[in-house]
Amino acid sequence: MAQPLSSGLTRTVVGELHSCCHWQLLGLKVTMPGMKVLGIESSCDETGIAIYDSENGLLADQLYSQIELHGQYGGVVPELASRDHVRKIVPLIEQSCQEAGLQLSDIDAVAYTAGPGLIGALLVGACVGRSIAWALDKPAIAVHHMEGHLLAPLMEKDKPEFPFLSLLVSGGHTLLVDVKGLGNYQILGDTLDDAAGEAFDKTAKLLGLPYPGGRHIAALAEQGDVHRFKFPRPMLNRPGLEFSFSGLKTFTRVTWEEQLPLCQNDSEMAQLKADIAACFQLAVVDTLSKKCLRAIKQTGHHSLVIAGGVSANLALREQLTMMGQKHHFKSFFPKLKYCTDNGAMIALAGALRLQQGQHSVDEGIRAYPRWNLEQIEAP
Ligand code: KG4
Ligand code: ZN
Repeated sequence: MAQPLSSGLTRTVVGELHSCCHWQLLGLKVTMPGMKVLGIESSCDETGIAIYDSENGLLADQLYSQIELHGQYGGVVPELASRDHVRKIVPLIEQSCQEAGLQLSDIDAVAYTAGPGLIGALLVGACVGRSIAWALDKPAIAVHHMEGHLLAPLMEKDKPEFPFLSLLVSGGHTLLVDVKGLGNYQILGDTLDDAAGEAFDKTAKLLGLPYPGGRHIAALAEQGDVHRFKFPRPMLNRPGLEFSFSGLKTFTRVTWEEQLPLCQNDSEMAQLKADIAACFQLAVVDTLSKKCLRAIKQTGHHSLVIAGGVSANLALREQLTMMGQKHHFKSFFPKLKYCTDNGAMIALAGALRLQQGQHSVDEGIRAYPRWNLEQIEAP
């Protein structure tokens, strides 16, 4: 697969920026103050636009969610997603500029999600991002969506220092990553089948909850009894850092189908739903947490970053925070609004990469529905 990112500078970029900024040139790393980066996220069902200033932080943050559009189908319809991104992306960029009190020409670079994700949805962001960059003669930065998630906690005041371990849990991914530095990622564990968020969504669908179901399962679990059923903790009884959630999904379905006919009335059925949600959630949280502890011991890291949509789960946040206190590592999470897809994390990733002198040298408009996180070049 072609590499969408590469270090080095074009003449245009050096000419554009030499007066106020410094670059990584001839191996010399220097910092570049006050870069304003427009971030564009359109990999799935959220149009996220933000402006991140490397000196002053987030200047604008706009998000449009397509949840209502896809909710009626019980999942994301790719063609509808692309069309909705087309409708929303330019108005949201205009609103972001207004929010930041900037003209588009004040932007120093444009970062956009180049993958992984839905190809049509990604291409909307890539086309708009590249076109703005060309028109302004400014650098464009192709960002890996999961790198955006991974770096999101760096927006917080209390932020981790490299290196650290990262658990990335979203609708499409479940990854344990050894983060050695910016762009230097080694995948230690992946899922063999469903992603953690996907398992939440499928369980929610089974119980008749709206899409995307993660937060609905979490809300229902609060009224449930975690002791009523003993759900399996997949892959914990064997060594390694891989995940698998399809067996748990089947166990959940079988439990639901066996128990449902035994319910005498609506209130018993409601309690059954809540109990299954609670037992399912605890099984996922236990499995993710114990794998994190294993990876912490294996790598010797003292910081753990948890990011991606499922990192909004309060039971997961609580268990990993307590585990860290007991086993001497610190857990870092993004703010709740930056757990799920957003433009801020892409703008931040772009700003960090730009600060180190990196931008895409490939002038074509490209998007990568599949893109291995390990194959992002370090700046
Ligand atoms: O990162 P994200 O917004 O999109 C992807 O990159 O996939 O993650 C979305 C996923 C969905 O599967 C959603 O159900 C899950 O994150 N999610 C949650 C919670 N909030 C969102 N899962 C569990 N508990 C939550 N509170
Ligand atoms: Zn995501």
